[in-house]
Amino acid sequence: MLARLCDLSPQERHSLLTPLITPRPIAFVSTVGSKGSSNVAPFSFFAMGGQSPQSVAFCPVADRNGNAKDTLRNIKETGEFVINIVTRAMAERVNQASAPYPHGVDEFDIVGFTKAPSLAVKPPRVAESPANLECRVFQIIPHGAGPLHGTWVIGEVLVAHIDDAYLAADGLPDTAKLDPAARLGRTEWSHVTADSMFSLERPTMGRPSGQTPG
Ligand SMILES: Cc1cc2nc3c(=O)[nH]c(=O)nc-3n(C[C@H](O)[C@H](O)[C@H](O)COP(=O)(O)O)c2cc1C
Repeated sequence: MLARLCDLSPQERHSLLTPLITPRPIAFVSTVGSKGSSNVAPFSFFAMGGQSPQSVAFCPVADRNGNAKDTLRNIKETGEFVINIVTRAMAERVNQASAPYPHGVDEFDIVGFTKAPSLAVKPPRVAESPANLECRVFQIIPHGAGPLHGTWVIGEVLVAHIDDAYLAADGLPDTAKLDPAARLGRTEWSHVTADSMFSLERPTMGRPSGQTPG
């Protein structure tokens, strides 16, 4: 099959590409509005980038009327957000938090997550999440305008909280213990378990050994 994206509707593009670009990690993003209401919502258009400083990016998509989601509105007002890592055990409630609740409604209370204070930013962390990244906005970049256009939010990670119970013997997060959830296409999700993982050493080709980005 060959598809020219300009011949497809936005919904068709989304349906075609989301089963291809997988598994997508999920940023469960908590924010506060300028009037103090807190909000939390999942975003699988999400990635990390460069390490110095450490950046993350995610992409809220405007609704069918071209209106910004509450997460983006809040971030534009305050310049701060927290990314809460989503585990398999959290998936159903995280999915529930994606319902289009009216602006100002506190999704923490509705879906039953607990707020924990952050150190460097105002938005609370999700206490049920084993790891939380406190972020400050670096740049907000709209791509297009009107219904269903995306806006990239690039943030800098200021503080990482990781529950000690999810650390391996080397002091780093143990991915299998975290059991992180991810989005695929359609209504499909996935999660990372020990038997779905494999390891490869990076080739060195004369470079000093050790980890290089990605
Ligand atoms: C797992 C998952 C991933 C999602 N990823 C995105 C995304 O990357 N971008 C987006 O605009 N909406 C995404 N959504 C939908 C939003 O979570 C949903 O529109 C939500 O109501 C936005 O909340 P807000 O208005 O409080 O910001 C996703 C939903 C789920 C369940």
